[in-house]
Order: sequence, then C-alpha cells, then structure tokens
Amino acid sequence: MPIQWFPGHMHTTRKAIAERLPDIDVVIELLDARLPGSSTNPLLASMTRGKPALKILNKQDLADPELTAQWLVQLQAQPGTNAIGLDASDPAPARRLIAACRELAPLRGGMVKPVRVLICGIPNVGKSTLINTLQGQRAAKTGDEPGITKLEQKIVLANDFYLFDTPGMLWPRISIEKAGYHLAASGGIGRNAYDEEEVALELLTAVRERYADRLQARYKLADFSAITGEELLADVGRKRGGLLPGNRVNLQKAAEIAIMDFRSGHWGRVTLETPTQFAQWAAEAAAADAERQAKKDARKATKPGTRDADHVTDADDGHDHGDGDGDERDANGS
Ligand code: G4P
Repeated sequence: MPIQWFPGHMHTTRKAIAERLPDIDVVIELLDARLPGSSTNPLLASMTRGKPALKILNKQDLADPELTAQWLVQLQAQPGTNAIGLDASDPAPARRLIAACRELAPLRGGMVKPVRVLICGIPNVGKSTLINTLQGQRAAKTGDEPGITKLEQKIVLANDFYLFDTPGMLWPRISIEKAGYHLAASGGIGRNAYDEEEVALELLTAVRERYADRLQARYKLADFSAITGEELLADVGRKRGGLLPGNRVNLQKAAEIAIMDFRSGHWGRVTLETPTQFAQWAAEAAAADAERQAKKDARKATKPGTRDADHVTDADDGHDHGDGDGDERDANGS
C-alpha cells in the first residue's frame, strides 16, 4: 500500500492557492534537491498549467552536485520554466530569486504592474527558512488582505515585487510508490502515515545503489554487496546503538537512525533519484493507474443498471486530469 498523506489543512491550502492564482505572474515551486521528482507536486502542476514557473532545488548542500546539475537541465527544458539551485547558506537569495522571476515575467514590473509571485512547496522543504532569510534582507511582511485567506502572507521584496507564501502542501494520491518513500524519508510526510522500517529499507536501497562507500564509512561495515536490505538495516542498528538485550537488533531504532542520518546529511551529499529513473517510475505508475481504471470500467459495464452511468475515473491524484478545484478528502479520512 503506497504512502498517502493529505490532511485537511492541505485541502484548505489548495483552495487558497486556487483563489490567489488568477493574480499571479510566476509560480515558484521549492523542491528538495535530494528528491526533485518526488517533491514535485502534480496537483500544483495541474492547477498552474501555463503559468511561468521557477523551480528551486533547495537544500542543494545536501544533494549530489552532479545529479543536481542533471535535474536543473531537465527542469530548464520544460516550457516556461527556469530552475536554480539554492541552500540556506546563501546569504542573499533574494537577488537570484527576483532576477529569475523578472526574466520569466518580462512584461511585468514597475509600480503599476508589480511582479506577483506565489511560492509553494512540500512540508519540510525549507520554505520557512528561505522566507526568514528573505525577510531578514529587505523584505517587509504585510498584513492580511481583505478577501484573501489568512493562510497566505504577502512579502514585499521590492517596491514592484510581491511574494505570496503558502503552507506546505502534498497531493491527494501519491501514485508513484517510491515517491512516497522518498517524501517520508525527507520529512515531508507526517510520522503516523508511514512505517519507518519500510521507509529506511527503501532509503538504504536507493543510497547503496550510488553511494555504497558512504554507508560503509558511516557504519564501519565490511563489503556488503552481497547482503540483503534487511541485513544492512540490522547492521546499521548493530553499529549505532540499536541493540536489545540478547544482542537482538531493534529494527525500529535502526530505521530511525538511518532516516535521521539521511536528513542530517551524515551520508554526505546524496540524491535519491535521477531524472531518467523518476521518468520510468512515473511511466510505470501511469500504466498501473490506466490498468486499474480499465478494470474498474469493465466491472462497471458488467453491473446491471449501471451501463449509462457517468464514467467514473480515478481523477483524485492531481495527475493531468485534476482541475485544481475539486473536493478530495483527506487520505486519512479526515
Ligand atoms: P518548511 O518551512 O518548508 O516546512 O521547512 P523549514 O524551513 O522549517 O526547514 C525544515 C528543515 O530543513 C529545518 O531543519 C531547516 O533547518 C532545514 N533546512 C532548510 N533549508 C535548508 C538548506 O538549504 N540546507 C540544509 N542542510 N537544511 C535546510 P530542522 O532540523 O527541522 O530544524 P532546525 O533545528 O534546523 O531549525
């Protein structure tokens, strides 16, 4: 069962974004540079289709620079899109951010036609940190505007440049299984919505594929090319204080250690996915969705009395068919 997390407050955020979008010139999406594909919100893409977009690969200090470069090229090739890398050590991100947005909206600017930018991103991607840095520079926060939800704050980065901040948002159905694991590993998903052992196993699998030497160094392991993922996780527990009486390994503790080590950058600069890999996972997920939909349609067609009923789709994932204004409920039922 893939990981899902779309609590009620994200549904409210989605509505607030839809409300604001008509007045927006550029949409900034803050992505996690270690999981650029998994942290791209398909729901946001469906809502903002056609708007100029700036993708920021944030936390680039934690990501593999070679793969960050590959992702930047891939993102920059998308129509109406620019992409830059960033991290919290940049002392003055406003300059780069403003310049990139102005390039994307060349007809806006000046007091009469200020550039209006919306900034979005998944939880824990570093948006508050970036906004705080921006506010520490010359940004001024303004009060709520009438008619606009209080969820949003407006930050004046220049006399003719306004940034509208939004709370972290995911999407109602995460159809790419690996994306769910990567999001959970990054801290983008609520703790109760996933199993740490499963997430740690996926995380170790992704990391050992490209950075086995880092794991070996961190946990002082001998060559582990032949051992299973479960054995590797047990080794992490053994080496980092995850032992129970009788020398048994506490796998839950081992999983928490592995996840924390990833989040804190103790494995060095690692990226969990390449553009090619992610495109393949997305294609597989789309094929599985199409197959499920075909089965559903076939079942419906054979049920007596339902032949003429409306075509029912799985249009609750924001992938391609979302209208950005639907009424999906929390995946956890709230
Ligand atoms: P959010 O608003 O998008 O939810 O994210 P937030 O800014 O709260 O950042 C989430 C965590 O990521 C914080 O760590 C923050 O310090 C860290 N972070 C943000 N930007 C960067 C970056 O560019 N590089 C690195 N390495 N880390 C970044 P935390 O441990 O949850 O909190 P804290 O104790 O560090 O504040």
